[in-house]
Amino acid sequence: MAKLVRFGVSLEETLLKAFDGHIKSKSYKNRSEAIRDLIREDFVKKQWRENRKVAGTITLVYNHHQRELVNALTELQHRYNNLIVSSHHVHLDRHNCLESIVVKGNAYNIKELADKLKASRGVMFGDLTMAPVR
Ligand code: NI
Repeated sequence: MAKLVRFGVSLEETLLKAFDGHIKSKSYKNRSEAIRDLIREDFVKKQWRENRKVAGTITLVYNHHQRELVNALTELQHRYNNLIVSSHHVHLDRHNCLESIVVKGNAYNIKELADKLKASRGVMFGDLTMAPVR
């Protein structure tokens, strides 16, 4: 594990209180952990903007009875097949499906694919998680 370095942070009391509330809601063990995550998140966003290579997951939840939705999602995944490593479909109940799509490629393209999938009519939940890769 890399060496840990301590540093002091000064901020307004009200902002700190709000931050502590945020930490609690996300069940972080301490402020350091929360600050580390924020810094990492910001770095990922920077790489995203710079269109760096990333790997990640697109999660979708949808009702498969929605007309044309399954076709639309399949069509999009074929069109962007060079970004898709694998996908995993789970039949949640009689109506709903969860799809987890593992992606790898340029951040900008991945964001574009995720946005199109999420915007497909009938998708109830959509999320993109990205991690930097060298
Ligand atoms: Ni299903």
